[in-house]
Amino acid sequence: MKSLKLRIKKMVQKGFGMGYSGKLVIFVPYSVPGDLVKINIKEQKKDYAFGEIEDVIEPSPLRTDPFCPYFYDCGGCQWQMIDYKSQLNLKKDLIYDAMNHIAGINNLPLQDTQGMETPLHYRNKVQLPLKRLKNRKIIMGFYRYNTHHIVDIEKCPLHLEQFQNVLSHARTVLQEERVTIYDEVKDWGKLRNLTLRGSSQTDEILIVLVTRRKMLSRTLAEKLRAGDPERVVGVVENLNEEKTNRIFGTKNFTLWGRPYYYEKILGLKFIIGATSFFQVNTPMISKMAQQFINELKDINYVDHIVDAYSGVGLFSLLSSSFARRVTGVEISAPAVKDAFKNVEINEQMNVIFREGDAEEILPELEKPDILILDPPRKGIGPNVIKFINNTKPPYIFYISCNPPTLARDTKILIENGYDIEYIKPYDFFPHTFHVETFTKFVLKGGK
Ligand SMILES: C[S@@+](CC[C@H](N)C(=O)[O-])C[C@H]1O[C@@H](n2cnc3c(N)ncnc32)[C@H](O)[C@@H]1O
Repeated sequence: MKSLKLRIKKMVQKGFGMGYSGKLVIFVPYSVPGDLVKINIKEQKKDYAFGEIEDVIEPSPLRTDPFCPYFYDCGGCQWQMIDYKSQLNLKKDLIYDAMNHIAGINNLPLQDTQGMETPLHYRNKVQLPLKRLKNRKIIMGFYRYNTHHIVDIEKCPLHLEQFQNVLSHARTVLQEERVTIYDEVKDWGKLRNLTLRGSSQTDEILIVLVTRRKMLSRTLAEKLRAGDPERVVGVVENLNEEKTNRIFGTKNFTLWGRPYYYEKILGLKFIIGATSFFQVNTPMISKMAQQFINELKDINYVDHIVDAYSGVGLFSLLSSSFARRVTGVEISAPAVKDAFKNVEINEQMNVIFREGDAEEILPELEKPDILILDPPRKGIGPNVIKFINNTKPPYIFYISCNPPTLARDTKILIENGYDIEYIKPYDFFPHTFHVETFTKFVLKGGK
């Protein structure tokens, strides 16, 4: 194994530090720009290699001590060794680099990253794989980076604090109840994953147990609920019968209480079902939602807003008072069901949802005055781009969790007549390399 000294130049996608040894590009997990590190080369290709830190010879001034004892073992976060302010700057650099290399933009109107006041206890969803050891003890936690090895975690400083009692209690109950835990190698056993979802706004918690085969009883649900009877509003069994890395399956059974919890964003109330997507950081999505509302106030009242990839209807409902009609498009049937309920409970009857693939549904829609795009990590597809070219919405708000695909799509939008007015990063995922962005595109020459 080759060992060498390396100066770390910058952070790159996936959260690794990067430096050069001659022409060889070397990626080093847990390194920080400015570090001089001694590394061992773990894997080498023609032009690049991966190294592992053996010693930090000169620590970067951006370094700090990780606050979680599991940090270097657990794959949940990657950046706890960087002080928080510097994390925000480095996330900005990641976006700048992606836009520069992929979209060829070097005068990007990139704003500072909006950070959290207290970047702890923000995750409103925790998904824990489980394993039973030979001595019958249950372990639950997170996968070590790039492996299926579960690191047993008693307490995570990033989850909502109100999850802790339910998690500790669930560990004891599942151990005592002798529930069989799914073993993916042997394809044997039943319980695959324990998920908690909840809101610090409404103080509700929903427990979701993912199983390989339908198995769970109301008695078990009641025992789990006892971990925090005041807050737990429902226990749901989600059946995932496939041999897959995807956590949730498609069938839900309510074992106790209701199959959803309530969340509140800027005075609107949202039903969020067991498996429906919702942003994991409520304080930060509220900040982004406020920015979106400020933009709509400036644009004033329009005829039609289309919210593509609408989830449970967050941006659709925020848009409701600023347009004669709003159309949301979402592929997940349970999320669309939640979205229609959200229209009802917020009494915003000018909003409708179309269930299906945005690639198929968008071409059927009338021209929007404002188009919201909030796609999954892979970004938008060719038919969505065709729809934009055919209808030329004057404003596009693009919310992205993946700078490289945002950059790819930005290049296409610019080639098709759009300018970026600004791009604002939001730190939805402190202590990880992930970053969310809010980008405003305007059509050159207006309507
Ligand atoms: C990043 S989430 C955004 C959800 C919503 N805008 C919000 O802020 O809560 C992306 C959403 O797109 C949905 N989705 C994924 N692929 C899709 C597709 N091809 N067509 C329509 N919706 C899709 C997912 O189910 C998910 O709800």
